[in-house]
Amino acid sequence: MIHKFFPTSVYVAPLLSNPRQLKSFLKEVKSDVLKIRDFDLEGQDWSDSHYPGGYTSYSSIAELHQFSSVFAELRDHLDQHVKKFARTLDADLKNYPLSMTESWVNIMPPMCVHTGHIHPNASISGTFYVETPKGSSPLKFEDPRLSSFMGAVPKKPQVKDMNRHFICVPAIEGQVTLFESWLRHEVPPNTTQKDRLSISFNYNWF
Ligand code: NI
Repeated sequence: MIHKFFPTSVYVAPLLSNPRQLKSFLKEVKSDVLKIRDFDLEGQDWSDSHYPGGYTSYSSIAELHQFSSVFAELRDHLDQHVKKFARTLDADLKNYPLSMTESWVNIMPPMCVHTGHIHPNASISGTFYVETPKGSSPLKFEDPRLSSFMGAVPKKPQVKDMNRHFICVPAIEGQVTLFESWLRHEVPPNTTQKDRLSISFNYNWF
């Protein structure tokens, strides 16, 4: 018998189950995302020096769910997904309820990159994809045990996803991806000719 312990979970689902409703909500979100970018001069400045070629409201307006009714609605939808995901982790939501603490916009033009990072001071993090042109860069996750593999047996060229040390989850418009905030991830360069729009967020129990 082989036991498989210590799994790393990544949740992926459409934000809304009704495709028509999702399409019209995406339109509203996209319009808000672009308005925020144009309005957020401080964020544009910060992005110039910290996010080359791209724009993020992370350092200037990171509580968009308190600032815009569209983002508050997005938070309400995300709450349901986060609950579902947390239940699969056996999280004690009765004593430690999770709530959104930050939500921010990311706009990645062609060749923009988001290097590897974790989300400190958060419990569950994720991204909602607003616009992802065909061929958009995925979200790439790194095995959290990577630094422990010094003498591990090298893998065959064909490897099951569960045995990989890096895994790419496609960025699909209208979908939500959730993971535990300690899981290191990155967005490889946007090799399309169009902007890649997403909203990232954190949930905390503390
Ligand atoms: Ni991130």
